[in-house]
Amino acid sequence: MKTIAFFNNKGGVGKTTLVYHLAWMFSENGLRTLAVDLDPQANLTSMFLNEERLEELWPDSDHNLTILGDIQPILKGLGDIPQIPHVENIPGASGLGLIPGDLGLSRFEDKLSDSWPRCQNKDEAAFRIMTAFHRIIVQAASDKYDIALVDVGPNLGSINRSALIASDQVIIPLSPDLFSLQGLKNLGPTLKEWRSIWPDLLTKAPKDLSIPKGEIKAAGYVILQHSVRDTRPVKAYLRWMDRIPQIYREYVLDDSENNINKDIYNLALLKHYKSLMPLAMEARKPMFYLQPADGAIGAHVYAVKACYDDFYKLAQKIANNAGLAMK
Ligand SMILES: Nc1ncnc2c1ncn2[C@@H]1O[C@H](COP(=O)(O)OP(=O)(O)OP(=O)(O)O)[C@@H](O)[C@H]1O
Ligand SMILES: [Mg+2]
Repeated sequence: MKTIAFFNNKGGVGKTTLVYHLAWMFSENGLRTLAVDLDPQANLTSMFLNEERLEELWPDSDHNLTILGDIQPILKGLGDIPQIPHVENIPGASGLGLIPGDLGLSRFEDKLSDSWPRCQNKDEAAFRIMTAFHRIIVQAASDKYDIALVDVGPNLGSINRSALIASDQVIIPLSPDLFSLQGLKNLGPTLKEWRSIWPDLLTKAPKDLSIPKGEIKAAGYVILQHSVRDTRPVKAYLRWMDRIPQIYREYVLDDSENNINKDIYNLALLKHYKSLMPLAMEARKPMFYLQPADGAIGAHVYAVKACYDDFYKLAQKIANNAGLAMK
């Protein structure tokens, strides 16, 4: 199984929307997909599940079926993650599962933060904490999934460090504006630091624990146009677009010279799908599955088809890069 994180410390670029749509697209095309909500905002979980189910998953008592339930024994100092963590089957999809998120996950931030230095001292408990997300994903998936897509919150904190270390690849969704490019300049060096420290810690890990390799291969970026303000002059937008490949190479890849003309890291340019998105939220389904009964009539019918093609092409590229084949 390949685990891919969608990460950008700039908020609201479209990470969750991307993970949600790709999860449906992969599963429709024969890749058994595990979506993993590691953002304490839990937006991905509320896109997938209806209110009734969310109330069941997030009762006033303990949340046994969410990511918080999985790490609760560690938080309480009572033990380790469950042998078989809960996976929520997504109704109407085949081979699509979700590890539900939880607002209480933010309680894990401090525990993770102080475990990182303790790993240096070969502290076994610290390694159990640092690798909890990796082990939850692997144990939840067992051999039932081909790909795991991880959604995270917009920051460079310790929950995200642990989530990224659990991932084979990272894809960076971004928008063509100053904030996103500044974000890339922060995110790139941070990723490099996490990547470079982990192999040394690996040598200190307990031998019987499943430890991620922490390669976090930079697999490219997706440019999302929906957050570009219409009032901005086109010229400004193009200027930011032009700078993305260079900044990605320099800050994320450490490769400012090679192949600058062949921008193989640009996985897609996704447009603003305008009214398809609110219709999809209302119908609780991906934009590319909207039907006339959901309000997708007239010109929307063509927009739905074009949206399907966009996500299909993107999913295919991501699968190829990860060495997986869609149907
Ligand atoms: N391609 C798109 N077309 C139209 N609207 C979009 C598109 N992608 C995302 N949106 C909208 O943009 C907003 C932000 O998207 P989303 O929540 O996916 O971003 P995010 O990066 O996950 O945010 P956060 O950093 O808070 O986790 C949402 O209201 C979503 O519906
Ligand atoms: Mg999000």
